[in-house]
Amino acid sequence: MAGEAETPRRRGFMVVCDGSNGAGKTTLIEALRRHLEQLGYDVVVTREPGGTAIGERIRKLLLDRNLPEMCDLTELMLFGAARAQHLREKILPALEAGKVVLCDRFDSATVAFQQYARGLDPAKVASINALALGGFRPDLYLILDLDPSTGLERVRQRGAALDRLEGEQLAFLARARDGFLQQAKAEPQRYKVLDASLPAEEVASRAVALVAALAEGRRAVHGFGAADT
Ligand code: TMP
Repeated sequence: MAGEAETPRRRGFMVVCDGSNGAGKTTLIEALRRHLEQLGYDVVVTREPGGTAIGERIRKLLLDRNLPEMCDLTELMLFGAARAQHLREKILPALEAGKVVLCDRFDSATVAFQQYARGLDPAKVASINALALGGFRPDLYLILDLDPSTGLERVRQRGAALDRLEGEQLAFLARARDGFLQQAKAEPQRYKVLDASLPAEEVASRAVALVAALAEGRRAVHGFGAADT
């Protein structure tokens, strides 16, 4: 398995959907998957933490509400470990095979939650993300932005139990929200913010337009389309 994550021959592309809890990432990813498949793309839908057998086991540890003693550094490194495995085992091979990867959360969540919300040293967060990613960057981050109390209410209405991080104070989720917005501000080409208080169809149609523009741009650069990947 590749030691160094970055590969210059990458042909597919990767879109991350991230943002506030309860903002509708799963619904949006499903809409994007349907759209891309209709265009003829081979799509891989995956998530973090998780996406591989090892990653899903790490996820269980990370989200377990019965482990309140988990220290911040352990949490950071477990998210990094799950990401290192996910990238090398699943994401890079899919991209090299010309597929489109749609990922529910990624390193953007580590910056938002562990750095902005937990208050971990930005240099520590950057070094764990850099180790896990080995120079790799997704092509586009779609950030679903929503007031945290509205988001938590939506999670509750779904009947889902709150995970260890969602069980934090509202102020924690508000800092995470700010963390996402700051990342988008710093890198506006790669991060696009979508207002998740709009109807789901409207959010999906804006996201589809952004992903279509990305796909078109890559076709222009690489000279191949979905049909010949
Ligand atoms: P999910 O609710 O989108 O499945 O994500 C699981 C939880 O993990 C969510 O509360 C956000 C959190 N998380 C982090 O704190 N850091 C990370 O790097 C990732 C990927 C998720």
